Amino acid sequence: MAYSQTTVVVGGLIHIPILIGVAWLIQSFISRNSNGGNNAESSLQPSKVPSAPPATISKENKLGAPKKAKHADVPVNTYKPKDPFLGKILENYSLLKEGAIGRVNHITFDLSEGDPQLKYVEGQSIGIIPAGEDAKGKPHKIRLYSIASTRHGDNFKGKTVSLCVRQLQYEKDGQTIDGVCSTYLCNISKGQKVKITGPVGKEMLLPEEEDANVIMLATGTGIAPMRAYLRRMFETKERSQNNWDFKGKAWLFMGAPKTANLLYDEDFESYKEKFPNNFRYTKAISREQKNSKGGRMYIQDRVLEHAAEIFEMIENPKTHIYLCGLKGMEPGIDEAMNTAAAAKGLNWSELRPQLKKAGRWHVETY
Ligand code: FAD
Ligand code: A2P
Repeated sequence: MAYSQTTVVVGGLIHIPILIGVAWLIQSFISRNSNGGNNAESSLQPSKVPSAPPATISKENKLGAPKKAKHADVPVNTYKPKDPFLGKILENYSLLKEGAIGRVNHITFDLSEGDPQLKYVEGQSIGIIPAGEDAKGKPHKIRLYSIASTRHGDNFKGKTVSLCVRQLQYEKDGQTIDGVCSTYLCNISKGQKVKITGPVGKEMLLPEEEDANVIMLATGTGIAPMRAYLRRMFETKERSQNNWDFKGKAWLFMGAPKTANLLYDEDFESYKEKFPNNFRYTKAISREQKNSKGGRMYIQDRVLEHAAEIFEMIENPKTHIYLCGLKGMEPGIDEAMNTAAAAKGLNWSELRPQLKKAGRWHVETY
């Protein structure tokens, strides 16, 4: 049967809405599937951990200005080893209580005479060049120390930096050996000047989002960056000037050998009292408490005790995890996370790199 031209054209036109409908269905199917893992409420499946941190829309981006590289504003290497800054000691006092093991000091340096002034942000480190020479008659090498103060300093005037330093001491051939730089710092007196370099490091920076969640795992002096974070989050004077109204959840796991060795404990207890809905503080006192196997209580044992809650937090793309302190704790934490993940049917060795890639897993151990 022959069709007229009009019949063909009309017949073709009738198919157009059907074709549009099919195309719409295919497109909405594809977009639904490609968006699956980025839902803040989604449950954590290995493939569902988002591959990038939640997008933040800065004012500049809204206005269409070019996007800046992440953390481009964070200062680095203002002072280099060849021309270090000389920082005057403002205070140097012990952080330990009667009966504690070893020696750990809080040391504050004056930065006001710097030109340019050494500026830093929470989570960075500075380098210290100890006075004197090594056994070969050469100047001592730089040692790095995590900054324990916020960018506003302990006195909130923005011109000091503080460290939390453990004196290294070990036995060798029946002799006690003192670490060069840590001993130099722990012994230094008010008014003396110290060679400082830096600041360095972008690994341990806090997220900018006020509703981020922050899980902190610290042993010993690994508490230094966490102290800075917690002051930024909860210290009254700090909050009044930092223009950052933290609304998320912060959870500190702190490992120390004895109660007398807990660092900044009263400050953290006071934050817990003032911000019970935003701050949790869990201690592992290795030589006073026992884990479920009867061994020393380490932070990884505490992580296991709270595995379900921790993983619930990790499920949220706004949660960041920070590890700082003894290098030796890394395998233990990994093992605990592995067990905790397995209990949820997840594979930690797949998840950890994804969290790292998403900028949510931060490690600084030494
Ligand atoms: P050194 O004189 O350099 O002696 C260290 C050397 O002694 C070791 O390299 C090793 O060869 C030897 N040694 C150590 N222990 C033993 C042992 N048991 N048996 C035999 N030999 C041994 N430290 C802090 O206190 N607070 C911090 O906030 C801090 N933050 C850091 C941040 C970063 C990013 C890094 C990398 C390190 C950090 N450190 C921190 C460690 C710090 O940099 C120094 O390594 C530490 O203070 C020791 O330096 P020292 O000069 O006293 O020891
Ligand atoms: P311990 O020394 O009892 O074995 P500090 O730096 O003040 O000594 O504190 C470090 C804390 O970390 C101590 O409680 C120490 O316990 C603990 N610790 C030591 N080794 C590990 C490890 N492998 N994993 C986790 N915590 C550890």
